[in-house]
Amino acid sequence: MRIGVLTGGGDCPGLNAVIRAVVRKGVEVYGHEFVGFRNGWKGPIEGHTRPLGLDQVEDILTRGGTILGSSRTNPYKVDGGVDAIRATLAEHKVDALIAIGGEDTLGVAKKLTDDGIGVVGVPKTIDNDLGATDYTFGFDTAVHIATEAIDRLRTTAESHHRALVVEVMGRHAGWIALHSGLAGGANVILVPEKKFSVDKVVEWVQRRFEREYAPIIVVAEGAMPEDGAEVLVSGEKDAFGHVRLGGIGTWLADEIAARTGKESRAVVLGHTQRGGTPTAYDRVLATRFGLHAVDAVNDGDFGVMVALRGTDIVRVKLSEATAELKTVPTERYAEAEVFFG
Ligand code: F6P
Repeated sequence: MRIGVLTGGGDCPGLNAVIRAVVRKGVEVYGHEFVGFRNGWKGPIEGHTRPLGLDQVEDILTRGGTILGSSRTNPYKVDGGVDAIRATLAEHKVDALIAIGGEDTLGVAKKLTDDGIGVVGVPKTIDNDLGATDYTFGFDTAVHIATEAIDRLRTTAESHHRALVVEVMGRHAGWIALHSGLAGGANVILVPEKKFSVDKVVEWVQRRFEREYAPIIVVAEGAMPEDGAEVLVSGEKDAFGHVRLGGIGTWLADEIAARTGKESRAVVLGHTQRGGTPTAYDRVLATRFGLHAVDAVNDGDFGVMVALRGTDIVRVKLSEATAELKTVPTERYAEAEVFFG
């Protein structure tokens, strides 16, 4: 078989580990050949390929990003996009695709399968918000990076008696905020799943200052106050259809300073959470996903995504994979609330 591989959506530590596992098992165990498609769905639409064999996957296990490049291109939003993909697959004699991506990439994978193109999906997002899998690779790395940042920010905050607001990624789900906040001993954690009261945040911050400690507030980029949410979202969309968020961290730091009279600083961790080498956990999960994805292709089992359930890797229908966003449940948030203030 000739199998095409692509990575779509935001990059994520562990993508290269998946690619390596797919190619190593595909070539060495099954005798398949591989074609790399550049920059997500853009590659097969525009016919951009790169060689993908044992040589190309040597030494990429620990490397962040993706050797294939990525994009948020959706062939169903490009005139003639799906026909162009069919033509490219025919030209390169590609029998099936492995698409590694998040909600959007896997949504396209499902539609293409319905349209007769054989695709197997591999879930990826640092946000950990895909419903069909217990964890996605990249999440553990992002949480480690955010936790280390919180640890470092705490000592400088305490030296200067300041409140430190740490804004982490997570537009729709607060998993990174919850886990890094718990691991870093944050005094307040704010997530998109629950609108927060600024009065309450100020109360926790003041209590912390009274105890002669500097408060650390971890806020997910998609978290919103009960009032004033409209000031945070400009409503404008960027070229990829993302609504631009207005910087909740900076806004909150200013509110805290104005209401407490204490110095406050905001730090936006942004894309540092997505860069660099994956943790050991993410390398292992990504590798296992890659091995099982190539098994599915070899079995001709298309329209499925590999997923982690407990400690097992299973196959789930792509329709199930993209059906629902996994957000932080109330009980999980309540566990963290015990430590607020
Ligand atoms: O979905 C992954 C993610 O990193 C989100 O946490 C974040 O909101 C978004 O991508 C950022 O996208 P971009 O890289 O396009 O700025």
